Amino acid sequence: MTEPQNEAPDGMPAECSECEGGQTRRGFLFKLGVGMQALAGTLLALPLVGYAFSSFLEKDSRKWVGLGEAEGFEKGSTRLVNYVNPVRVPWSGTSGTDIPCWVRTKKDGSFQVFAINCAHLGCPVRFFDESQLFMCPCHGGVYYADGSRASGPPPRGLFEYQTKIENGELMIFAGRLPTLHESA
Ligand code: FES
Repeated sequence: MTEPQNEAPDGMPAECSECEGGQTRRGFLFKLGVGMQALAGTLLALPLVGYAFSSFLEKDSRKWVGLGEAEGFEKGSTRLVNYVNPVRVPWSGTSGTDIPCWVRTKKDGSFQVFAINCAHLGCPVRFFDESQLFMCPCHGGVYYADGSRASGPPPRGLFEYQTKIENGELMIFAGRLPTLHESA
């Protein structure tokens, strides 16, 4: 009795249509599938890894921006001023060049500069000279002239920019909107 020749361990003849260069088609497809899954997994994981490390890589993009001659602001007034966003890209449009803020010039000549956005949900607040109050049109939030909260849903006062006078010009540290997690 003769032993069967040329038989693969799984019972399939070694010389079959699925064999190619010593590798079965099934084995090749299995490896291809594993490779594709590994590639897909890597591509899906990249944004998550980027998100996880973004806080370490992120640079503070804020810069000092001029609002105009300090002498040009009338003492005891609060007025709306636009500044150029220091963080802008070619497709920013007017949002890159016209960022409004409220400049309060106190009677002693010192300044407070407030973000225009309400601390509740970000609607633009408006200052009323008659009442010396900032009011939000969205849900009735009200702030005193010094930016502190007076009433309504805002959980805090208006966000305030850091200011300084440089070469006679009023400057603010701008470039990023604050959030409720930040103190200023
Ligand atoms: S957004 Fe101003 S009160 Fe809600």
